[in-house]
Amino acid sequence: MSLPHGIRTLGVLGAGQMGLGIAFVAALRARVPVLLHDRSPEQVTKGLALMDKLLAKDVAKGRITSDAAKDARGLVTVVDGLEGLRDVDMVVEAVSEALPLKQSIFGSFAATLRPDAILASNTSSISITKIAAAAIPEGVSPASEAGKQSAGRVVGLHFFNPVPVMKLVELISALQTTPETLDRARAFAIACGKEVTTSKDVPGFVSNALLMPFINEAIMCLEKGTATRDDIDTTLKLGMNHPMGPLQLADFIGLDTCLAIQQTLYEGTRDSKYRPSVLLERMVDAQWYGRKNGKGFYEYDGDGAKS
Ligand code: 3HC
Repeated sequence: MSLPHGIRTLGVLGAGQMGLGIAFVAALRARVPVLLHDRSPEQVTKGLALMDKLLAKDVAKGRITSDAAKDARGLVTVVDGLEGLRDVDMVVEAVSEALPLKQSIFGSFAATLRPDAILASNTSSISITKIAAAAIPEGVSPASEAGKQSAGRVVGLHFFNPVPVMKLVELISALQTTPETLDRARAFAIACGKEVTTSKDVPGFVSNALLMPFINEAIMCLEKGTATRDDIDTTLKLGMNHPMGPLQLADFIGLDTCLAIQQTLYEGTRDSKYRPSVLLERMVDAQWYGRKNGKGFYEYDGDGAKS
């Protein structure tokens, strides 16, 4: 293996904003061929169009040459089904935040991918240990050498949105993760141009265990009438130099995603400081998911401009 991470081909499962962003930095920065799969062809088309737009902008701003953009785009191939990922050296799962879905996907990875492939999840808060426990082929005991080896290649690789811009990747070790898996995943994130911090496998890891109570507290301020939406956001933007206020950030992340993370935190800790606000629950009940579908604390037009 000449590369420190040994990743000659990367699989990315999910072509939403996170999966697409991960494919983008892997192709452009780490220069690794990427096989991309999403069960929704519309999502793939939307994702690739965004990638073309981002590459064109980087060329226009003189950050990369048009040849580098062409090379990066040429490294991304769309594949049908999980079977298309069979021969990758590493896969990053970036589907929605639901444990049963992730368990089923990692079970399929264990059954179909090479036994030495690294299996990474971009989950925001779900236990990597629980996901790793599902990544063992049927009939193999988790306590056997084969079981430990299979679960030992699972790791949390938590990118931040928007992936091309945000400089951090949070690396999470499951109870089962081997040191070699951690080292290779870290080297891969660095090759993608990211700084890496490490967290234990606790609900929300470091990032969301700190961010979600902050966002939730802002929503409760709004709920209680402490201040208006704009005054809450402006206070944090101008008073603390945050690039976005907490309500705008919640919309940006997705209110459904914020709620799913907060529920994982609350269920995982039983600590009332993580209890989601009723207003957030009601907004998700109303299917107001934030920027992604045009309505959250703010309203968004087709280009994502807010009012
Ligand atoms: N994809 C790619 N690039 C994007 C982008 C996107 N979705 N949105 C913005 N950008 C790029 C712009 O193209 C622009 O690039 P340029 O410098 O080449 O022109 C650059 O980001 C700055 O964008 P803008 O000038 O349009 O706007 P801002 O200066 O307001 O920056 C922002 C936009 C980078 C999104 C900034 O507002 C920000 O940093 N917000 C906070 C983001 C944040 O906290 N993210 C973490 C969320 S938590 C998370 O992801 C974890 C999960 O588990 C919940």
